[in-house]
Amino acid sequence: MMNEKKKTDQIETPLVSAISKHIKHNNTPFHVPGHMGGRCLPEEINELIGENIFKSDLTEIANLDNLHKPAGVIKKAQKLLSDAYGVLESFFLVGGSTAGIKAMMLSILNPGDKIIIGRDSHKSVISGLILGGFEPVFIDVENNNSINISNPISIPETIQTISNNKSAKAILITSPNYFGTTADIQTISKSARENSIKILVDGAHGAHFSFHPKLPKSAVSLDVDMAVHSAHKTLPALTQGSYLHLVSKNINISRLQSVLAMVQTSSPSYPIMATLDACRKFMVWGGEEYLTRTLEISEWLRYEINGIDGLFVPSRIQVKDGGAFDFDETKLIIDVTGLGYTGYEFEKKLQENGIQIELATVSVVLCVLTVATSWESAKKLLSALKNIPRIKSESKFLTNLIQPKPRLKLLPREAFFSADELIPLKKSAGRISSETICPYPPGIPVLIPGEEVSREMIEYLIELQNNGASITGIKDSNISVVK
Ligand SMILES: Cc1ncc(COP(=O)(O)O)c(C=O)c1O
Repeated sequence: MMNEKKKTDQIETPLVSAISKHIKHNNTPFHVPGHMGGRCLPEEINELIGENIFKSDLTEIANLDNLHKPAGVIKKAQKLLSDAYGVLESFFLVGGSTAGIKAMMLSILNPGDKIIIGRDSHKSVISGLILGGFEPVFIDVENNNSINISNPISIPETIQTISNNKSAKAILITSPNYFGTTADIQTISKSARENSIKILVDGAHGAHFSFHPKLPKSAVSLDVDMAVHSAHKTLPALTQGSYLHLVSKNINISRLQSVLAMVQTSSPSYPIMATLDACRKFMVWGGEEYLTRTLEISEWLRYEINGIDGLFVPSRIQVKDGGAFDFDETKLIIDVTGLGYTGYEFEKKLQENGIQIELATVSVVLCVLTVATSWESAKKLLSALKNIPRIKSESKFLTNLIQPKPRLKLLPREAFFSADELIPLKKSAGRISSETICPYPPGIPVLIPGEEVSREMIEYLIELQNNGASITGIKDSNISVVK
């Protein structure tokens, strides 16, 4: 709980104020960016966006500070951010959690080091492995028993993996995952600490947890070393805007800062950073109230949708009973197979009814609710759901399609930098992938550089494609393999 003095400090938005002061000053610009405060814009952009955002699209000029060596308003804004989340230090990210995940890994590992990661890791984790030459030790994740989504890494599997790999330098936990299920971070961390293994958390989908007591515990309130939050995913921030939090004293901050400058642009976007600054104040002062509404809407929708014959939305208790440690109820996961559709088909039906969802899988659609979700939007979703007719099932559902477990034959970095060739997916059995093969969304790779392509994997990928999944890394039915 934040004390009154600290909460009052949170009224300030140092970066937003500095940008606004600069605009009011009306200097004549002789500096980048080239649009010079929106003075020259392509007509289409003027119509689409207008000039306002360009006024705040500035650079490292007087009084605006430097993200890579903050000493003024960015430093102040980041201090307020770390106070808001109750951590040692926080950093603005302008390249999403994607940049933060790579930075966390590169700041604590050396080439050849082992890192324990869940099979549910985002592709940025795989990029981190390639960039740093790290060796992954995978933990498989299981499906939830209440609905066809994956659980986070489980305690028995994780403890066993740690005990078999005591020389690992770090563990990276994805929690919450895309669907809002969370891992038992505290228990995992106890076991990791006993073996001097550092704990990193990909909390891309959990930036809002700290602001409502009914949401799962935020990773930053637990015994971890660092965590990232995609502010742009669940808070009202511009896309790419994310936070990196330093939670423990075990991290070399100057190395972390060097790495952040390596993985991010040297020209960070001020509009993005301004939203990161303002979102922090918004969540400290209004987050709980807004999230109370979000949770009420979510509960109402869950109740109403479960009343529609053929649709099913699991509750927090059901998801927990299904094997997750906890569940974020702002995620509405709807199993649509009872109406005769795959998730992909159902997504299209919703689009025809004016609704755009976050993602579809073979059997579910995921609706994300945030502080921006209104009762009006909720009613529109419900009426669209009621409007979609049942179709005759052709027993096409692949709800029990099992994701094969590939074997790692080469380090991801070695495979990525090897000479490679493009061959038909169908003829790739036994070869080693040099690419990341990844259904998108959710962006969780099923095959990474260095892993062997098995016959089961080929069949799995073809089945996914036949059912409408979009898969990156497959080009015109070909994949890249090590020569
Ligand atoms: C689990 C997970 N981690 C990390 C990321 C990357 O986040 P960002 O889009 O902020 O780069 C995503 C993006 O979807 C994600 O789902």
